[in-house]
Amino acid sequence: MQLPDSQSSQQAPRPIGVFDSGIGGLTVAGALRRLLPAEHISYIGDTARVPYGGKSAATIERYSRELSRMLLDDGAKLIVVACNSASALALSALQSSLEVPVLGVIQSGAVAAVAATRSGCVGVIGTRATVNSGAYQQAIRALNPDVRVEAAACPLLVPLIEEGWLEDAVTEAVVARYLEPLLQKGIDTLVLGCTHYPLLQGALKSYAGSGIILVDSAKNCALEVQALLSSRGISSSAEGAGSLRVSLTDPSSAFLRVAENALGLDVGEVHLRPVG
Ligand code: DGL
Repeated sequence: MQLPDSQSSQQAPRPIGVFDSGIGGLTVAGALRRLLPAEHISYIGDTARVPYGGKSAATIERYSRELSRMLLDDGAKLIVVACNSASALALSALQSSLEVPVLGVIQSGAVAAVAATRSGCVGVIGTRATVNSGAYQQAIRALNPDVRVEAAACPLLVPLIEEGWLEDAVTEAVVARYLEPLLQKGIDTLVLGCTHYPLLQGALKSYAGSGIILVDSAKNCALEVQALLSSRGISSSAEGAGSLRVSLTDPSSAFLRVAENALGLDVGEVHLRPVG
């Protein structure tokens, strides 16, 4: 961990700016690195103020504006809100006020869920902020009003993941408690509506069984970014390899190592950029 980073942003090529409430959004950064290896990515995790999942809409919007401004200072050509809670509660405010395109993780997850379901019953799990916002429910119904959405807030999952208890009897019991009611309701597709949850895919898959399709919002968001970059003609030229620059707003980094291991992602040097 370095001391506060004052590096300015004026370097070309312009990066894709990615932010999350903390480390979980690295699942999106990892998917972007795999799909778009020529792109430079500037990632900010708001570890000083995580979790967002239990906070009010006004607070989440204020934090999201602040992090977006920092990414614009880095020269970001596009901002990815790699946090479901912030996508649910702040995306439209950012889209209507920022000078670059802004993408969240909810629309791409909704599209993938509607394409995947055969029974017409989709489960969504996420933080309280995401589930109570109704954002997934609305996005899925807008795509296909015949699809039924069963959503469940799973507030205990984020702390278990951050603790690194990805394969643990306690985590399995919590997963069972959250998923069983959704399975009883006949879902055949489960949207992982929180950026942390792809790290728990093993436990979720093993409880849900092979008949349930898991929709990983990280992967789908990366595909949406790829389409947007190419439609706007702002993809990085193929020359030279891209990079990932990770900044955190607080140096606590235990979960960073958990995420790095689980994602097979080397984040390298981490920069400290305090907020507020
Ligand atoms: N990143 C958040 C999300 O995807 C989960 C962690 C939090 O509550 O801040 O909703």
